[in-house]
Amino acid sequence: MSAFPQTIHFIGTNTPRRVEMSVRNLEVEGEIPADVNGAFFRAVPDNAHAPMFDDDIALNHDGMIARFNIEDGAVDFDIKYVETERYLAEKEARRALFGRYRNPFTDDPSVEGKDRTVANTTPVWHAGRLFMTKEDGRGYQVNPHTLDTVGRWDYEGKLKSQTFTAHPRIDPETGEMFFFGYEAGGLCTLDVAYCIADKDGNLVKEQWFDQPYCSTIHDFVITEKYAIWPIFPTLADLDRLKAGGAHWAHNQDLPSYIGIMPRYGDVSEIKWIEGPKGVSVFHEVNAYDDGDLVHIDMCLTDTNAFAFMREAGGIHREQQDIQGALTRWTLDMSKDEPTLEERPIGPPGDLCRVTDADQGRHYNRAWYLSMNPEAKGPPMLGGPVGANFNLLMRIEPGNGRVTAMEVPPGGAISEPAHIPSSEEGHGGWLVMVIDVPNGPPGGNPADYSSELWVVEADAVEKGPVAKVKTGLPLRSQVHGTWVSREKLDNSKVK
Ligand SMILES: [Fe+2]
Repeated sequence: MSAFPQTIHFIGTNTPRRVEMSVRNLEVEGEIPADVNGAFFRAVPDNAHAPMFDDDIALNHDGMIARFNIEDGAVDFDIKYVETERYLAEKEARRALFGRYRNPFTDDPSVEGKDRTVANTTPVWHAGRLFMTKEDGRGYQVNPHTLDTVGRWDYEGKLKSQTFTAHPRIDPETGEMFFFGYEAGGLCTLDVAYCIADKDGNLVKEQWFDQPYCSTIHDFVITEKYAIWPIFPTLADLDRLKAGGAHWAHNQDLPSYIGIMPRYGDVSEIKWIEGPKGVSVFHEVNAYDDGDLVHIDMCLTDTNAFAFMREAGGIHREQQDIQGALTRWTLDMSKDEPTLEERPIGPPGDLCRVTDADQGRHYNRAWYLSMNPEAKGPPMLGGPVGANFNLLMRIEPGNGRVTAMEVPPGGAISEPAHIPSSEEGHGGWLVMVIDVPNGPPGGNPADYSSELWVVEADAVEKGPVAKVKTGLPLRSQVHGTWVSREKLDNSKVK
């Protein structure tokens, strides 16, 4: 096999590991609370083969599904490749056959027409099923007990959209899953499919609408009344793809928009409201109704946070010069032409989390990751932008109060998941993976050990109550999802 490139997409916590394994009874320092009983699933991109092009990016790497299974304070770890059509074709050929990120014109001709998704972004649990998702294709169902791939998921042939978001939203009261797919009708189309699956996992509604331009719609939000798509000017172009270029290029001069419609309404009711030019968001924290007002909280930056999306648009900005804030956009829906007001509500960051019970509701707390301005030494290399977050923040959006947890010097932190507590008045727990350098910060960037930390959700500043030590350098995850023991016991796949 040819060699892996030595770019930011293949070093540090992006170092290819490519090992499917099971480890029993990991070492536990401290005590895991009884509430923490279930599985923490992680989506981990990790190419099975060296890429066809040296400028390959982390978002293009094969999806692995990893699991920390926690029961009675004991922890087992497993990780396996998601056996997508693409993974299986390349496994057979013993080499990469699919070319650049979301550009089929760069593929080996032998795979023309095959499913290109790598299912590497978010593990999604709904109605007793586990899916591995990526926004460029449909999800793949995975057996939550064995991590074996069941197959591509299309709601028993009902789903028309060719794509399925990695960020569906599940209503905590109705159990419905609201989701969408963009480029739903094919490469670079304006088609967006808006769908609802009921609490039993049946697709009950699919409607299509056009977005104003072909933008990357990575996330969306629901409230009790509305479905909302904030979109930003990072755009796809078919001619650029045909010339072998990048799928996405950011445009600093075009406006952002919010598309908003009643969540059970008809797509003909959607209203598009213009927002500021050139800004970018990958993840919304939450949204909620406040009378006629709708508040939408987002991890906003003044340009696209991914260097390869900026550079494809001719924007040359250093990563550390990008400005951002946790930002609230408020719409006044009492007006025929709803207005948009913006205000910052917290420090910059990303990979945000609210509790499942707060989804689409007024909420008093959220968690997200950031760069610690007081950290000594450089951050750990890796992740999609080349440098990992090293600060976990808890914020109270109502009053801006922030508390934080640091990681060991030179360490990295991955997105947390929240676990509710059975104890009245207790705020629950967070679990997350922390990568700790084995030597001094700034040493060999591939030499670190990954640990799973359990932290009290409302007292993050106290640090972990338990550390689970893998003794292994795990590759960076994208998103993670907690699934309770009760849900696992009632899964549709046994
Ligand atoms: Fe995401």
